[in-house]
Amino acid sequence: MSGPIPEQLIAEIRERNDIVGVVSEYVQLRRTGKSWKGLCPFHSEKTPSFNVNQEEQFYYCFGCGAGGNVINFVMAMENLPFRDALGRLAERVGIDLTPKAVSPEERRQRSEREKLLELHQAAQEFFVRNLFGDAGTLARQYLAARGVKAETARRFGLGFALPEWRTLLTYLQKQGFGSADCLAAGLALEGRNARYYDRFRGRLMFPVCNGRGQPIAFGGRVLDASQPKYLNSPETLIFSKGNNLYRLDLARVAFRERGFAIVVEGYMDVIGLYEAGVDNVVASLGTALTETQARVLQRFTDEVVIAFDGDAAGEAATWRGLDVLRSQGLRVRVLELPGGEDPDTFVRKYGRESFEELLSEAAGLTEFKLRTIIRRGELSSVDGKVATTGRIIEVLTEIDSPVEQNEYLRWAAAMLKISEDVLAAELAAHQAKAGIESSSRHRISTRSNNREDGKGSSEASTQRIGRWQGGPGLNSFAGLSVIEATLLRLLLDDRHLIDQVRDVLSPSDFRHPVAQKAMECLLDCQDAGEFESGAAIFDYAQDASVHQLFAGLLSSRTSLPPSQACIHYVRRLQLMQLKDDLKRLEEQISRVESKPLDSNLMYQLDGLLVRYRRVREEISEGFPLEH
Ligand code: CTP
Ligand code: MN
Repeated sequence: MSGPIPEQLIAEIRERNDIVGVVSEYVQLRRTGKSWKGLCPFHSEKTPSFNVNQEEQFYYCFGCGAGGNVINFVMAMENLPFRDALGRLAERVGIDLTPKAVSPEERRQRSEREKLLELHQAAQEFFVRNLFGDAGTLARQYLAARGVKAETARRFGLGFALPEWRTLLTYLQKQGFGSADCLAAGLALEGRNARYYDRFRGRLMFPVCNGRGQPIAFGGRVLDASQPKYLNSPETLIFSKGNNLYRLDLARVAFRERGFAIVVEGYMDVIGLYEAGVDNVVASLGTALTETQARVLQRFTDEVVIAFDGDAAGEAATWRGLDVLRSQGLRVRVLELPGGEDPDTFVRKYGRESFEELLSEAAGLTEFKLRTIIRRGELSSVDGKVATTGRIIEVLTEIDSPVEQNEYLRWAAAMLKISEDVLAAELAAHQAKAGIESSSRHRISTRSNNREDGKGSSEASTQRIGRWQGGPGLNSFAGLSVIEATLLRLLLDDRHLIDQVRDVLSPSDFRHPVAQKAMECLLDCQDAGEFESGAAIFDYAQDASVHQLFAGLLSSRTSLPPSQACIHYVRRLQLMQLKDDLKRLEEQISRVESKPLDSNLMYQLDGLLVRYRRVREEISEGFPLEH
């Protein structure tokens, strides 16, 4: 059959091929207690260390670490790709792998989340087909006129919603989805007499994707000047605006490569910059940045450059968003565009070089705020000057480093044409009123404190997996910690725990790369509502090392903590990460401090210190779990 094989069919093939039966065709197995043992077919040995667990339907070699489910076994044994191995097993139990439409009944039984994902996937395919088909001529012309190549449109999954009332609904219903599902997904609206119709009509469609690149929402733009310019999907089970950054899935690798993230406002800004060769870009989708978004960014980078339209950069809501970024320990710079331009129009008009120039000149957050206040201030009247000074003081108060605070104070005094002493007195009075104790804000005191609690306490958490009784096979995972292993094992054992922790735990919280991938598989498998047997999980990993890890974990005889302890392990894992962060930051700080400080280094140092303090606070507060 062509096209993807439905998960349910894979599960059926797996379930009907008992692993003991299949392995027995290749290896002589003997029963010992609950499991079956034999000589490993994947390495040469004299005493059997190859185990087949009939209850959980997987195999694991304590000698070489090979492991997986029945499909993986046939793949390894016969050196076959997944599909062919599956075909063999299907044949073995008389299943016909020719395509069969999934019945509406089957659809209904899938989990809600998976259904929403599938619905969006189907809608996405429909929109893309429209864009590149006959009905998409106008939309394609529109894109071309805006300098978007077809190749780029494909990369971003752009599509077109037809202008008629219910073409998408009709299509989705033909695919077996109910109109109630389309309503729940935000793709349909309810009209009079319970008549449903498409939310998006006659619009250029931008899919918004989750971290795994699956569409979870859409934005739709009109092709002319009519209003509203954009329509967006509502919040659903799988989409929350404040948790999402447009095209993070494509940009995060580039964040690491370039060392910083660019945040813009709009869909078209991301695409326009990409077209110009700048790809470390995500969009906030026109709202003030939330703490969740800041936390997500902070996982992938240290520094964020905001490139909002000139007018937006001055707004109070935007400033709050910038403060949120900074309070997450990110260094924040603001790229100012000439009036009337947004990143997309700018880069198209002036080219990449000019944009890069603006990037390199982008001022730090404090400098940007001060400049904006001065620029907008009404400095010719006394009242205006007093008001502006008040605003300047607010910003100066936010500065943690006394040295830097003093630098900016001098600069601001000069701009305001008042004496430094007066401004300093105002600042002191304000800080006293706000109850800010300057000594507690001093960086040296924060640093020396840490040395005591930074040490020793992480000993247990960094204990290596070799000491865990997880079977010798797990030794090959150098650097895997007990905490990571225990947590994964808990999640493997009780799938309900995955739903409990999914909002606070992400793959990148794990330190070991294989553990990260394992966590991704657990989430995928859970999303697919496909976690009935231990064996299903193996289908969600491409990587043999992940198979080994799962098999090793499932085979370990270590007694597990109770499932209520799961959240505790999540905390410990995150604590471990925070401590690593702290150490790294401490090193960076001493490296910067040992150089003669110029204003750029001072700025860097300030960013590091803010971040450092934030991490320390999180550790001492028991670190908030909400992401
Ligand atoms: N936006 C929205 N609804 C609107 C206007 C804007 O949701 N009615 C969001 C969209 O995510 C949009 C972003 O805010 O991408 C920025 O808005 P704007 O700058 O007006 O749009 P651009 O992305 O620049 O789009 P274009 O260049 O096509 O005008
Ligand atoms: Mn624009």
